[in-house]
Amino acid sequence: MGERLAGKIAIVTGASRTRRAEGMIRTQEDSTPMGERLAGKIAIVTGAGSRGPGMGNGKAAAILMAREGARVLCVDAQKSNADETVASIRAEKGEALAFAADVTHKADCEAMVAEAVGRWGGLDILHNNVGIESRQTLMDTTEHEWDRVMAVDLKSMLLATQAAVPALERRGAGAITCVSSVAALRGAGRTAYAAAKAGVLGFVVSVAIQLAPKAIRVNAIAPGTVWTPMVEDLGPEMRERRRQAIPLGVEGTAWDIGWAAVYLASAEARWITGQTLVVDGGLTLTTR
Ligand SMILES: NC(=O)c1ccc[n+]([C@@H]2O[C@H](COP(=O)([O-])OP(=O)(O)OC[C@H]3O[C@@H](n4cnc5c(N)ncnc54)[C@H](O)[C@@H]3O)[C@@H](O)[C@H]2O)c1
Repeated sequence: MGERLAGKIAIVTGASRTRRAEGMIRTQEDSTPMGERLAGKIAIVTGAGSRGPGMGNGKAAAILMAREGARVLCVDAQKSNADETVASIRAEKGEALAFAADVTHKADCEAMVAEAVGRWGGLDILHNNVGIESRQTLMDTTEHEWDRVMAVDLKSMLLATQAAVPALERRGAGAITCVSSVAALRGAGRTAYAAAKAGVLGFVVSVAIQLAPKAIRVNAIAPGTVWTPMVEDLGPEMRERRRQAIPLGVEGTAWDIGWAAVYLASAEARWITGQTLVVDGGLTLTTR
């Protein structure tokens, strides 16, 4: 039995004295206890380092996947960033390797998959976390900026996914998660970023349908205004304004995004594909 709701008190309506309810409770035996939700799985997390001190989304996802039993290839264009994540995982007795790759290049994507397969014998999970921000308005967005953001935020999804599919297919199933952003839905002032992140959602829907017959699930996470090294340059005043705008009243962290990544990669999400999980403390409920 797991401990994910340890100490909590719950009411489940309509759960008593029916055969169906009894059956559902018995199926708890199928659920894996905390710490084993990805046991035996081999995962790649792209952008698994953090651009600065602190906890980025990719780093948190890699650490949590390892905590849940996965072996994690921590891929980053800056190998030293991935090395830090690997050190954190190993300090907790998890298994991880750092790998240098720029996921805007096809050959690098193929090399990262070959590394995971060569080291551990296969691939089950691809977490496409890489993304860079652009805060330029329509008229300020240069062609160069547009191309750069499209390459890192959108083309990388295509190349990494294309590279991973044959390996996932060989395992008979797989989970791919692409990190988008609430900017895809509410992207004021972030022209290229919003367009690329919306592209990620279209990519996920299209690819989910194509890969479903192969038992490969493809989903997106749309993080809200979480506080990570990526946005630290916004400063403390903006940080507080962002927190106040959140209906739940608390600031989101990279761990919130990491847990969503674990969930979507796990068997608990085995019937979920082509979806976008918005993780934003309710922000998009209140913004136009
Ligand atoms: N922080 C937020 O508020 C927020 C909100 C919504 C979405 N997101 C999304 O979360 C994801 C990233 O989060 P993070 O906190 O891990 O970011 P981060 O900036 O800390 O980046 C993680 C790592 O990605 C690496 N990287 C960048 N380009 C790469 C490339 N081409 N190939 C390989 N590695 C590369 C960097 O070296 C860095 O170590 C992005 O997709 C971002 O758009 C963040």
